[in-house]
Amino acid sequence: MKRLWVAVGSSWLLALAAAVHAQQPAADGPRYVNNTSLVRPANYREWIFLGSGLGLTYEAEAARANQAPSFTNVFVNPSSYRAFMDSGKWPDGSVFILEVRRSATGTEPNTTGRFQTDFLALEAEVKDSRFPDGWAFYGFQQGAGSAAPLAAKEAEQCVECHTKHTAVERTFVQFYPTLLEVARKKGTVKPGF
Ligand code: HEC
Repeated sequence: MKRLWVAVGSSWLLALAAAVHAQQPAADGPRYVNNTSLVRPANYREWIFLGSGLGLTYEAEAARANQAPSFTNVFVNPSSYRAFMDSGKWPDGSVFILEVRRSATGTEPNTTGRFQTDFLALEAEVKDSRFPDGWAFYGFQQGAGSAAPLAAKEAEQCVECHTKHTAVERTFVQFYPTLLEVARKKGTVKPGF
């Protein structure tokens, strides 16, 4: 009899825990200071890796021609990745990280291949209904623990390119091949891709 009570008690606790969990924002979602400044996610390197671009940076072509192409490594928080895999859409509270790294070449054993080296910059993008537009863009200064959302002209550039040229919502899913497959199946790709 005692054992039965323990079983009933613990399943009730589990149900309660699940209900409480459902109401809370995802534990790996955006963390803010001063309401809208994004705390730099310390462990983004343990998040889900979406893909790397080489030379996909946004500078004008002339500026790009004179320098070695950079790598851009893209990560998303794991709970948002799982939601995307189910629905082809990004849930509220999705956090995207763009890590920019220098590339190099000319070493053994393959002297023409390119590989990643020094850290150059960290940018982020958040889908969160707390922002009037539903999305916010960030650039982290070197060593800063948080960043205020970009505003005015700076933000306009991000929004424009991330609206006009993106395959799914405001994200470049066309460059993340495993996600693109899912988005196609779920019918969430914008017309034109
Ligand atoms: C001219 C176009 C352009 C502009 C302007 C631009 N981006 Fe991007 N962004 C890209 C491309 C292309 C990628 C895909 C990179 C890759 O796959 O390596 C990307 C990817 C990202 C990602 C990864 C998630 C995603 O959306 O796919 C973040 C975060 C990001 N950009 C932040 C920013 C921020 C912050 C700004 C403004 C300061 C900005 N971007 C401005 C073209 C742009």
